[in-house]
Amino acid sequence: MITGRTRVFGIIADPVHHVRTPQVMNDYFAAHRVDAVMVPLNVARGDVETVLEAVRRLPNVGGLIVTVPHKAAVVPLCDEAGEQARLIGAANAIRRTADGRLVCDMFDGKGFLGGLLAQGIDPKGQRVLLLGAGGAASAIAFALAGHGVAALTIANRTRDKARDLAARVAAAVPSCLATDGPPDPAGHDLVVNATSLGLKADDPLPLDAGALERGTTVAEIIMQPERTALIEAAEARGCRVHAGRHMLDEQIRLLAEFLGADRAEAA
Ligand SMILES: NC(=O)c1ccc[n+]([C@@H]2O[C@H](COP(=O)([O-])OP(=O)(O)OC[C@H]3O[C@@H](n4cnc5c(N)ncnc54)[C@H](OP(=O)(O)O)[C@@H]3O)[C@@H](O)[C@H]2O)c1
Repeated sequence: MITGRTRVFGIIADPVHHVRTPQVMNDYFAAHRVDAVMVPLNVARGDVETVLEAVRRLPNVGGLIVTVPHKAAVVPLCDEAGEQARLIGAANAIRRTADGRLVCDMFDGKGFLGGLLAQGIDPKGQRVLLLGAGGAASAIAFALAGHGVAALTIANRTRDKARDLAARVAAAVPSCLATDGPPDPAGHDLVVNATSLGLKADDPLPLDAGALERGTTVAEIIMQPERTALIEAAEARGCRVHAGRHMLDEQIRLLAEFLGADRAEAA
């Protein structure tokens, strides 16, 4: 039941009709008896600044989830950005503090890493092949490097983006050997598909599955379908697989915590 005390959260996107976060977050609020609601807000690119200004002036708005195309635009508009948001230059959550300040951070990478750890897969010290160099891949690259992977090979269709991301990761975390390279899984303990390949049934695989070795773990970030062609091919090669939903599950928990909406308020 929404009452005058209910805290309001929004998710800003354009378009917004396809987002699934409100369903998942509202289920989370109900399960944890948090008096809050999340609603979709269709915000055009040119209106982000105005909407954030409005949020500053609405004390019962607790914050926003941010998605395409606003993740980079919100960072300079907030009063404070967390370490991941500063490193990546993009954020997917904004918290409104009691005095109307806006604090943003990025949870894609932490969500992916937390999802792995929750399933008993610890990439610390491992050699990782990261497929993709877009928004999600960038966040995952910094989170894995920060967690202490030994080496990170980044393979992307647009090679310049892989090269640039590897250079930024190497500069931020010198102990991680970050390079760009081909999508060749040989010699890697963990392969992460952070491209959009796998969303559509006729997408090609993001790598040559015949080159996967039995000891390699293959992780997806695609959530729909849950069993992508890559997951099936990796299983057929005898690899351990890790589905994309674990990243979302962990992100929901982290986002609720960041927004201060992870537990019922004391009566
Ligand atoms: N599980 C979760 O919680 C979660 C969270 C965030 C995102 N995701 C999923 O992650 C995927 C990527 O999201 P994003 O925000 O990183 O998107 P993005 O910034 O647009 O990046 C897309 C990436 O996929 C690559 N790519 C796209 N089409 C390709 C093709 N035909 N062949 C080869 N590479 C291709 C792009 O390569 P180029 O650089 O060459 O274009 C880029 O590396 C989405 O499908 C999204 O659903 C999942």
